[in-house]
Amino acid sequence: MVHVNIFDTTLRDGEQSPGVNLNQLEKLEIARQLERFGVDIMEAGFPASSQGDFEAVRTIAQTIKNSSITGLARATKTDIDIAWDALKDAAEPRLHVFLATSPIHMQYKLLKSPEEVIQTAIDMVSYARKRFPHVEWSAEDASRSDLDFLVRIITKVIDAGATVINLPDTVGYTTPEEYGRMFRYIRENVPNIHKVALSCHCHDDLGMAVANSLAAIENGATQVEGTINGIGERAGNASLEEIAVALNIRKDKYNFTNNLVLKEIKRTSDLVSRFTGMLVPPNKAVVGKNAFAHESGIHQDGVLKNTLTYEIITPELVGVKSNDLVLGKHSGRHAFKDKIEQMGFHLLPEKLGEAFTSFKQLTDRKKEVTDEDLFTILTDIQTAVVDIKKYELVAFQVQYGSANLPTATVALTTPEGIRVETARTGSGSVEALMNTLEALIKEEIHLTDFRLSSIGQGRDALAEAHVKMTVNGSPVSGRGSAQDVLEASAKSFLNAVNRVFFTHNAVLKETAML
Ligand code: KIV
Ligand code: ZN
Repeated sequence: MVHVNIFDTTLRDGEQSPGVNLNQLEKLEIARQLERFGVDIMEAGFPASSQGDFEAVRTIAQTIKNSSITGLARATKTDIDIAWDALKDAAEPRLHVFLATSPIHMQYKLLKSPEEVIQTAIDMVSYARKRFPHVEWSAEDASRSDLDFLVRIITKVIDAGATVINLPDTVGYTTPEEYGRMFRYIRENVPNIHKVALSCHCHDDLGMAVANSLAAIENGATQVEGTINGIGERAGNASLEEIAVALNIRKDKYNFTNNLVLKEIKRTSDLVSRFTGMLVPPNKAVVGKNAFAHESGIHQDGVLKNTLTYEIITPELVGVKSNDLVLGKHSGRHAFKDKIEQMGFHLLPEKLGEAFTSFKQLTDRKKEVTDEDLFTILTDIQTAVVDIKKYELVAFQVQYGSANLPTATVALTTPEGIRVETARTGSGSVEALMNTLEALIKEEIHLTDFRLSSIGQGRDALAEAHVKMTVNGSPVSGRGSAQDVLEASAKSFLNAVNRVFFTHNAVLKETAML
């Protein structure tokens, strides 16, 4: 059996999804979960793209020990130097440097001749190898590149020291048959190809990213790149959980091994969905809410007689558990700690205290506290940044009646610690609340999106709100949960605004304590 390395790029290509912006604690939590999921390589970000990305990559490189950590760099010395600064403390630092090879990219984007592109690729890979033990070189837009040009440049880049060659379908254009053929051609025609790992990286513009990735593996790729829930640029990247489950369920056809721990899929998917605000469609393969639901009578009857009639994947395989009542009103701190540790949460002592208080408050107001409820409370507390100056909600009141003008009154403390309050109206209660918050906040805010959903079922379910806005011109997103929809809305608004105050020091302080 051939071993395939799993390269996760949720924190880099995934984070490039429109409207996604993760804070550093959220990125760190996703990185920890990816490590539990067993990914071999984790692309933690693009260090030269912003100070925030640099800090996040550095923190992840210093924390994660069981996956190799990589960061993206353009083919410039500056990008490579910055990436080295961010990655040098990793257990196994690795660079991912890319340069486009298709005629359209070389001519219009790079403004370079093919010979200049070859020389730049050689120079940058050899420059990178002076520092990094592992260097992946990506031929951006490989699937629209000339095959013989690819053979020439790949041969030279391997001689320059590349250890992995990645052939992305950057624009999601190729078909499984074509993509597989490209891998076979490169395997058969690049004389030194045996010295490197060959990697595939697919986008889903035509809905073929997973099929293309599987075709690449069948034709000689030994590394597959993708993201959790398939998030990423435009229509997204190949979904890693789909590839993992396809390789497992169809092992009769795919004779490949990997290191993934499939029962971590559900938790990984939930965490990514919650932090990015990109909800998983109910009909999504493997992780959608309906993936294991059988609606029609004929199917239900079949499954009751023998689950194999209609169920090819068991929920247990991917870590989907029945949503039992977890803890009750009388559960003590010890039982609570045990439970949350079983759920994969390891909180600092003060955050554990806060989580226990929130749990107790919830048991007073909600009949059943489920795993989903706990997951929501815990992820909020785990990634809340303490010790930074921020806006905090003191109290609010909303008056709404079908014949009245909806009016909200809000009291906040500002980052300077001053209590401020005011009232505003709006055409609905949520708008009145948001108008009031906006009036109290000094920053320039434009709300661009607002979504409300419930966590789990039942009329007493927790509400979760997601907002997108620009704060002083920068796009940010935020989320908030509460039992009341208005409180969840206010929290999501402030969560987005406060991301602006999230500083490097706050992260280092948090991580130093873990
Ligand atoms: O899709 C792509 O080509 C990329 C490269 C940077 C590898 O994400
Ligand atoms: Zn990509």
